[in-house]
Amino acid sequence: MKNIAIFASGAGSNAQKIIDHFKGSNKAAVTLILCNKPGAGVFTIAENEHIPSILIEKERFFKTDDYIQILKEAKIDLVVLAGFLWKVPGNLVQAFPERIINIHPALLPKYGGKGMYGHFVHDAVIAAKEPESGITIHFVNEKYDDGATILQERCTITPDDTPETLAKKVQVLEHKHYPLIVERLLTL
Ligand code: GAR
Repeated sequence: MKNIAIFASGAGSNAQKIIDHFKGSNKAAVTLILCNKPGAGVFTIAENEHIPSILIEKERFFKTDDYIQILKEAKIDLVVLAGFLWKVPGNLVQAFPERIINIHPALLPKYGGKGMYGHFVHDAVIAAKEPESGITIHFVNEKYDDGATILQERCTITPDDTPETLAKKVQVLEHKHYPLIVERLLTL
């Protein structure tokens, strides 16, 4: 069995899709959820799914190897960022080479970087009158929304789209593709 850890900061809809995807699998499961935001929706998901969860403390995350230790002790094979809004520190990136992935709700390298998350991304894409948007799944390095691309999927933006309708289109792509990419990476 391969063990997946999910890092999230918010509602956790992608976390839920990944958990569901591996239910009943004899190959992998989500066995740990880490979140930096007290009260975030992803904690409720963890509780409902009986998956251990950890509140990430800022000092420890950025200044110690404590979380590397926790992930190693839990025998984590793949770290999946699903709406995790902190930068991943270098020591963690180096401890899991090509074993940490992220999803971004736009076609990177456009509309990425610090502060570009959630509705801010879709607001900017609509304001720029882009003809399309989509998702990028990529390996994580020490910069925000950087690292080699694993998959991009696109959606068309029509003149009547708003940031809200675009968010829905992008979320459909995320929920469809992220669990499949997680599965693919675990079999490499
Ligand atoms: C997702 O749309 C994800 O792409 C985005 O946060 C959302 C989390 O939703 N991530 C970023 O913007 C990273 N820069 P969720 O909590 O419902 O999965």
